[in-house]
Amino acid sequence: MITRIHHVGLVVQDADEALKFWRDVIGLEVTDDRVIDDQGVRGVLLKIGNSEVELLEPTREDTGVARFLETRGEGMHHLCFESDDVAKELETAASKGIELIDQSPRPGLAGMIGFLHPKSNHGVLVEFATPIEGAH
Ligand code: CO
Repeated sequence: MITRIHHVGLVVQDADEALKFWRDVIGLEVTDDRVIDDQGVRGVLLKIGNSEVELLEPTREDTGVARFLETRGEGMHHLCFESDDVAKELETAASKGIELIDQSPRPGLAGMIGFLHPKSNHGVLVEFATPIEGAH
C-alpha cells in the first residue's frame, strides 16, 4: 500500500552548488550525502517534515541520470511513493499495462526501490520505495 510521498528527486549539475539553494536558502537539513558507485550518482538527501528532497548529481557519463541531465537539463527527475511492498506495486502496475524500468525491487538510496517508466505515466518517472529500518 502507498502511504505518502517519500521524496522528490531532482537532477543537478553540481550538488554543492545546489545545496547553496536547498540547504542555505530554503534551510533544509542534509541527512545523507554519498556516492552510489554502481548507479553513477552522488545522492544528497534533505529532510522536510517526514519527506525529503533528493539531489542527484551524475558521477559518470553512462547513466540514466547523466543522459537526463544532458537532454533535459537540471530540474525535476522523479516522484517517490513510500510503499510497504515495492514488489507488489510493480506487479500491480505491470498488470494494468504500465511499463516497468525495474522488474523487481533493488537497493537504492531510499531503501528497496523500483521505478515505472515515464512513457506510461504521462511523462513522470515514478519510484516506489520501502525504507530500510534505520535509513531514511
Ligand atoms: Co529517488
